[in-house]
Order: sequence, then structure tokens, then C-alpha cells
Amino acid sequence: MDKNFFWGGATASYQCEGAWDVDDKAESMWDHYLHENDMENGDIASDHYHRFEEDIRMMKEGGQTSYRFSLSWPRIIKNQAGEINSKGIEFYHRLLDACHKFDIEPFVTIYHWDLPQYWEADGGWLNRDVAYAFEHLAKVCFEQFGDKVRYWTTFNEPKWFIANGYFIGNYPPGLQDVQKTMIGAYHVMLASALGVRAFHEGGYQGQIGIVHSYTPVNGVDDTIETKIAMRYADNYCNNWILDTAALGEFPIDLVAKLALDYDVDFIKADELRIIKENTVDFIGLNYYARTLVKPYTDGETQVVFNHSGKKGQSKVVIKGWFEQVKDPNSEFTAWDTEIYPKGLQDGLIEAWDRYHLPIYVTENGVGVREDVTVDQVNDDYRISFMNDHINAIMNAMDQGVDIRGYYAWASFDLYSWKNGVEKRYGLVAVDFKNEQERKPKASYYWFKEVIESHGEKIQRRAFE
Ligand code: BG6
Repeated sequence: MDKNFFWGGATASYQCEGAWDVDDKAESMWDHYLHENDMENGDIASDHYHRFEEDIRMMKEGGQTSYRFSLSWPRIIKNQAGEINSKGIEFYHRLLDACHKFDIEPFVTIYHWDLPQYWEADGGWLNRDVAYAFEHLAKVCFEQFGDKVRYWTTFNEPKWFIANGYFIGNYPPGLQDVQKTMIGAYHVMLASALGVRAFHEGGYQGQIGIVHSYTPVNGVDDTIETKIAMRYADNYCNNWILDTAALGEFPIDLVAKLALDYDVDFIKADELRIIKENTVDFIGLNYYARTLVKPYTDGETQVVFNHSGKKGQSKVVIKGWFEQVKDPNSEFTAWDTEIYPKGLQDGLIEAWDRYHLPIYVTENGVGVREDVTVDQVNDDYRISFMNDHINAIMNAMDQGVDIRGYYAWASFDLYSWKNGVEKRYGLVAVDFKNEQERKPKASYYWFKEVIESHGEKIQRRAFE
């Protein structure tokens, strides 16, 4: 592996910072939603706000060369008028300074789902003004931190927070409305392009991309019906983000299909031009699993996520489009996530063929319950998971795909949205019940050896 390849971990502001109301931070939509519904929340999370120095030092000691994290919009901007919170700015300066002190390359996400509640209360992503408010946020970030950051991404996973928030209803704002899903999706992709434009026009150092929750699509067979179902699934899962960000166009067949049943008047020609003219420099792909589909048979649209960690509850049926199925030969986590490293290899090759842009694998990991009261968590399942996925990346690189970094999800244990903190992903264990004590897991030391060997330690194999 090239010596410049980035090896690191990733986190997100809401999931790790805690300090939800400290130093003039405004309320986020997640603060509001979880407090209102009396649910487990990220009020304290991993207390990264106060422990970032220790966390970044551990990254360095673990041989890591880069850290992917996000900035909290409600920590940086106080209100709809766009007033800057200097204490929030100072916090991120301290965090970035710690990265540089330990020679860790910061890889910064501008938005990882924690919309300020003052915007959510005014329509959230359904409100066109929010796209322009994001542009203001992005400009503030570039101005304030541009000297310290060379790798930016506009959004983390538009598919995930839009589908979950507006279509499935399991994330805030908890809606199940196709028309609103389309509007929210459109505004987010517009906002991303506005962020890219501000970055390029500002002449800042470095590059800007977008991060996508990538689920490459496979079909159960080679029939024409299955191929059609695969195209629907790919448009639903991947293409409206990647085509739009990388090629500057929404998939035309998706728009045409939706226009048959829904109002697409919210799409404006001048904004399509902004999207067309402001494409990303690279793409970040988060990979957990693929999507295996068969043609739609019958029944109403039904999308159910497993947030309980009790196997066998998830389901995806999109009426008239496709049905997701489970490969009986695959292994699944307690949260119904398929473990399928080959999907990463195939997906990387597909994304390279389609977009020809540099790729960073910006998240990859496995969420499990773990007892962190022991001296060291022996997470051999995580080591094997990471080995197989890094192997998939190396296989894709052998076939000419330009991949420039790998980020484990997550750098350390953190709050896992609707799954609370019991679903652990970290390379470092955080004992939330014992003063946030940090202890590296076996995977942390294994990852260090992988990094120091420039990937030579990975056990290689070809997939069939
Ligand atoms: C990605 C997100 O979707 O997957 C992370 O970028 C998230 O924020 C991760 O935590 C794992 O998902 P979950 O729901 O198991 O925490």
C-alpha cells in the first residue's frame, strides 16, 4: 500500500462529543427529538468534547495517520441569522491543533445529521432556506478552518438521514412521506453543490467530496425482471446521491418515474445548473453491507429497521420497485447486517467505472455487544471483519481502482443513534458506566500492525 494511503478511524459530532448544551451550543434536532421522546441520547456520549486530546493521542499511538470527524452545526452557528459561536469555533481549533500536534490528517465532514433545531422547527430539509444556510455554514468552516484542513466532505450519507427521517420515519423528524422525502433529498443535494461551489470559488487548499452510505446492489438471478428491480434499488440506494454529486445530474429514469405520481415542481432549472456545475473532487464510501434484491411481488411498501439487536426484524419492500432479500448463505449481525466483504470489492470497482474519481472508504466496521469491563476486549470477529474488508479494498486496487484511505468505524465506542451505546463499533473501548475509561481493544493493536506493514499484514484472498 502506498505510504500516503490514509489509515484512520471515523466519528460524528453528535455520536461522540457529548457536551450537548455547553459553551453556547444550540440544540440540535437529535437533542430535541430524543429528549422529547425520552430516549437514550448523546448528551454525554463519549465525552469527546473534553477528551479529544486523549482520543487523538491514542490514534497516534495506534499508528493511525488520519481522523475523520464532523463539525456540529449547532455548536458553530447560533441562530437562523447565521451568527457565529466563537466558543464552538475555538473548540474545533483546539481539536484540529491536536490532530496536527500528533501528525494526524484531519478529514472533516461538515454535516453529519445534527441539524440545529432552530432550522428543524422551521421545516428542516423541506425548507429551501436550509440549503442556503448550509452554504453559509460551509463558508464559515472554510474561512475559519481552511488553513488546518485539506480534506473536506459536505455531507455524511444523504440517503441514510433523508430516507430514515422522511420516508421510513425512524429518525427525526419521523415522517413517512414520499413527496417530502423527494423535497428533502433535493435540498440536500443542492446544499452539497452549494458547499462545493463555495469551496472551489474560495480557492482554499485541498479537496472536497461527499460521503455516501454505499450499498452496492446485487440481484438474485439474471432475469430481466431482476435487472429492472436492481435498477430501482440502485436509484433508491445509491444513484441519487453519487450520480448527482459526481456527475451533476439526478438519474433521469428516477425523476421520470417519480414525476408520474408526485409533484416535482420544487426542482428549479437554475438550481439544477448549480448542481451540474459543482461536482465533487472525490467520493467517500461508507460500506457496511450490500443490497440483495428480487423483483417486487406484492404488498404495501414496508421498511423496517432493527434497532433492538434481536435478529430477524428488518425488512425492505418498495411497492412496485423491488424487495430486499437475505442470502441464506451469509452471516448476519444481531442487528441484521449482512457480513459480505465481496460487496465492497465489487462496489468499489463499479463506483470507479462509473465516476472515475478518487475514493476513500470513509467508514467500515461491525457493531456488536461487548463486555468492556475486562482488561482488553478480544474482538477477533472485528479483526477478521476488517481483514476481509481491507483485503477487498486491496483486490479492487489491484484492478486499478484509485482508493486513497480506509477509516474504521469507529475510532472509539460511541453512541449509535437509535441503537444507543450497547452497539459498539470502536477500536478503543469506552466504559460509559465507569467514568468513560478508554482501553484499546485487540483490533486497535492489530490495526496498528496493519498500518505499520502498509497492508502487508492483511491475509489476502480472491473472492469467487
Ligand atoms: C453510518 C453512519 O450510517 O453507520 C454512522 O455514518 C453510524 O453515523 C454508522 O453510526 C453505523 O450505524 P448504526 O446505526 O449501527 O450506528
